[in-house]
This record gives sequence, C-alpha cells and structure tokens, in this order.
Amino acid sequence: MGLPQPAYYIFKCEQSAPPGMPKPSCVTPESQELFQYLAQKLMTDGVMSTVQPIRTSCLNRCIAGPVMLVEPGHTMYARLTKEKIDRIIEEHILGGNVVEEFLIEAELWDDAITPCEMQKQMGM
Ligand code: FES
Repeated sequence: MGLPQPAYYIFKCEQSAPPGMPKPSCVTPESQELFQYLAQKLMTDGVMSTVQPIRTSCLNRCIAGPVMLVEPGHTMYARLTKEKIDRIIEEHILGGNVVEEFLIEAELWDDAITPCEMQKQMGM
C-alpha cells in the first residue's frame, strides 16, 4: 500500500493588509490564532495525517471573513470562530455533514465558471 492521500484539505486565508488599506483583510488580531487552533484541533482528534490544513493567501471573500475552504466539496465557511471550527471538524470532517448554518451566503459563493467559459467571456 502506498502513502495515502489526505481525505480533506482545509484552506484558511492568512493574508494581512496594512492598516488603512482600502480592501480590508480577514486577518485581524482576533483571527490570527484561528489557524493554530484548527491545527491543534486536528491533532487532538488524531486526524492530522488525513486532514491537511493549509495557510493560504486571500480567498477573495474578505467581506465574510475570516473564511475557511474545505476540499473536496468547495465548501466555504464564513465568519470563522474557534467555536465554529470545533463544530465544522466534528460535524463535517468527522461526521460527513456540512454545517449549513456556517456556510457563506449563496450570493457570495455562486457556481464556478470553468476556465474554458471564462476565456469565451473574455473573447479569447
Ligand atoms: S484575507 Fe481572507 S478572504 Fe481575503
């Protein structure tokens, strides 16, 4: 048997913007420790080797941030807190059920446009 793939990847945006920038960032002093909290929770639950947490740059949904994207599934959770992380791990990652009440608003997370369709829209 080979090295197993992770069952899930969890992307947590970690891009900070300097004070005064027109585009606010998800990363605030209050949200800075959420990634560490997520990683700690995965370790405590003994699933770190099959759930891969990843710090990423802006996921372009700062307005609903801090956000966290779970793959596979394109599941985007909004306005993250430690309490929400606990429930997302327990119900979604361990239980297999998306936590609907924590999802980003549908109008901020519409269906994806394929790269091919995007090129057509741009006249390429
Ligand atoms: S910095 Fe988090 S979505 Fe932009």
